[in-house]
Amino acid sequence: HRLTNKTVWQLDNVEKTLPKRELFDHKGNHGKGLIIGGCKEMPGALSMSVQAALKSGAGLITGASSSPVIQMIAGNSVEAMYIPLMDTDGYLNNHSKVSFAIYDAAAIGMGLGRKKITQDFVAHVMNTATCPIIIDGDGLYHLSHLLPDLNARAYSTVITPHPGEMAMLLGVTIREVLQKPFQYAKDFAQTYSVYVVLKGRYTIITAPDGVQRLNPTGNAGLSKGGSGDVLTGIMLAMVMQKQSLLDALCNACFIHGMSADLLVQDQHSEHDLLASDVINGITRVYRAIL
Ligand code: APR
Ligand code: MG
Repeated sequence: HRLTNKTVWQLDNVEKTLPKRELFDHKGNHGKGLIIGGCKEMPGALSMSVQAALKSGAGLITGASSSPVIQMIAGNSVEAMYIPLMDTDGYLNNHSKVSFAIYDAAAIGMGLGRKKITQDFVAHVMNTATCPIIIDGDGLYHLSHLLPDLNARAYSTVITPHPGEMAMLLGVTIREVLQKPFQYAKDFAQTYSVYVVLKGRYTIITAPDGVQRLNPTGNAGLSKGGSGDVLTGIMLAMVMQKQSLLDALCNACFIHGMSADLLVQDQHSEHDLLASDVINGITRVYRAIL
């Protein structure tokens, strides 16, 4: 690929732009974030996003899901708070009204399931969230039926599709997306005024104005269920700390991939690396960078 106008995001970019911890800091300086996800078959997706956000430096994280999901995962990250939402047969419905007033950013979609009742809830979130939101996983499936709501949003929106999800949103084949990933990501970002994080071996990050950057980190140890949920958690932690949104997205992708890269050098292999290992590896990334 010719990389004119497309900056490869590198370690020194991360070092210059990562949020700092200051002597007189308090948790309010590092944001309040809300993560909405999980259903009865996929409670772990929410759990991993919550843990990854906490490990990445988020000030305060609240997970929102059905009560049974919260009961299952609450013990995994005792630092988080939880909000129970209404569900029908284990899938979130639109009977809960979420108040976004206190949050600096929110993420929705990981392990949410694809039921129609849940789509109405995703629409409620898109139409009422007064903060930047990140839409991932099954949230992107619902989004493909809610594109007019995307156009109507007054606050920033970030979508994090893998090529299959990008193809679904565009109504084209995966093959077409892979042939022109920069072009498709840019078209979608500009058409809907959103940030697009098109994931893959080299993740492409596109701003609504069409500026594109490329993340070089990561390895095939990440091609396992759960890696995406971890990325979304890291990303929320960056976004809620009020950096430049584009920098925040690039830093999240870089840290996610670098954690996996450091771990397969001497602790794991690409075969046995798990998404939860990538969360723990964030420690090594920060110790290497800061
Ligand atoms: N090299 C570098 N990075 C990689 C590689 C690779 N070979 N393979 C995957 N990754 C990274 C991607 O860039 C992305 O950040 O791992 C992450 C994978 O994210 P997802 O594809 O969203 O994976 P995840 O959501 O955890 O699991 C798959 O997506 O298709 C749906 O329903 C399916 O639930 C399943 C889920
Ligand atoms: Mg995913």
